Amino acid sequence: MLRPAAPADSPALVALAAATGVFQPGEAEALLGGVLDDLHAGRLGDGHLARVWADGPDGPPLGWVYFAPTPKADGVWDLWWIGVAPAAQGRGVGGALLGAVEDHARAAGGRVLVVETSGTPAFDPVRRFYSARGYAAGGRVPDFYADGDDKVIYAKRLRGRV
Ligand SMILES: CC(C)(COP(=O)(O)OP(=O)(O)OC[C@H]1O[C@@H](n2cnc3c(N)ncnc32)[C@H](O)[C@@H]1OP(=O)(O)O)[C@@H](O)C(=O)NCCC(=O)NCCS
Repeated sequence: MLRPAAPADSPALVALAAATGVFQPGEAEALLGGVLDDLHAGRLGDGHLARVWADGPDGPPLGWVYFAPTPKADGVWDLWWIGVAPAAQGRGVGGALLGAVEDHARAAGGRVLVVETSGTPAFDPVRRFYSARGYAAGGRVPDFYADGDDKVIYAKRLRGRV
């Protein structure tokens, strides 16, 4: 089941993010812990949301997603973070989280959802995950995250063109 992230979830969400192996040790707390604190304190502005997936109302978070509308364009939303606990990957949690983001953005008038990820071979499964759900790679910034580690920008239209 999906529910809004609560302040009490933050340590588990940071630990979950660290367990996915995307961050260097310490980075998850510094990057995501601070974002969650700002989110719950209302410092990130309107529309910033985090959702958690758990197997039941009292279950620990198995996945989470953080997203927001961009102030730079009308109807465009950014998916800032999505992560699923390694032991729970491959059973539809990520797809459910991504679908919930799309539904929310669409209901709020969103036209386009944008997500950025790494172009390295280690992220092949992640890029396949987005491609299989209708996201198209629309840009690439060479050496963005590090030399040899490109940023790949994916986007999906959430509604037809008017
Ligand atoms: C990408 C991620 C969120 C997908 O979540 P998930 O719960 O495994 O996704 P689902 O079960 O809904 O879908 C699985 C699909 O994702 C892909 N996938 C990515 N990583 C996977 C993994 N470790 N195990 C199984 N499938 C994985 C597969 O291509 C699979 O495709 P299929 O449905 O055609 O078989 C998750 O693997 C994850 O947390 N990765 C590490 C964190 C990360 O890189 N986040 C994205 C940063 S941009």
